[in-house]
Amino acid sequence: MTARIGIVTVSDRASRGEYEDRGGPAIRDYFVDVLTSPFEAVARVIPDEQSLIERTLRELCEVDGCCLVVTTGGTGPSLRDVTPEATEAVCQKLMPGFGELMRKVSLEKVATAILSRQTAGICGKSLIVNLPGQPKAIKECLDAVMPAIPYCIDLLEGPFLTTDEAKIKAFRPKK
Ligand code: MTE
Repeated sequence: MTARIGIVTVSDRASRGEYEDRGGPAIRDYFVDVLTSPFEAVARVIPDEQSLIERTLRELCEVDGCCLVVTTGGTGPSLRDVTPEATEAVCQKLMPGFGELMRKVSLEKVATAILSRQTAGICGKSLIVNLPGQPKAIKECLDAVMPAIPYCIDLLEGPFLTTDEAKIKAFRPKK
């Protein structure tokens, strides 16, 4: 089964075409580099509007059947930053460990990591993970949580994701 992965760039300016979206393609490139199982990316670039973020996340999970949806942007303290709120609104369960771990590793690199409210949660049978908007934050954060993602998706009865073990060693408990 080919996995579908949703990639959502949340940015007023990128959605208006004021600058090129670098985050979405960086997330896609990350999965191309690290995943050895087949996947198809479903990408969206949308403004920082909570109702639109919620609708996009629900659609990717429920209509497009993405087992994983990764967002970038809108996690900070600014008035327009509402990606974590939209994520929490569509999820039945929150997975706070993802945000905790990403902030921990990010803080070892940049002091401003404390400003990201990035979180994760389960929407139906899909895992949603927030990343900050800085393109360089993408690899820093995904390297931290990627080892946990394949097993999390197994528990959600999703496709069996495998990784290039030289890059990311996914953990699955021994049967
Ligand atoms: N995390 C990592 N790993 N690397 C970064 O450069 N930038 C921070 C933080 N987390 C950063 C990071 C900054 S400057 C901000 S303002 C917050 O994420 C929120 O960013 P966002 O609003 O673009 O999501």
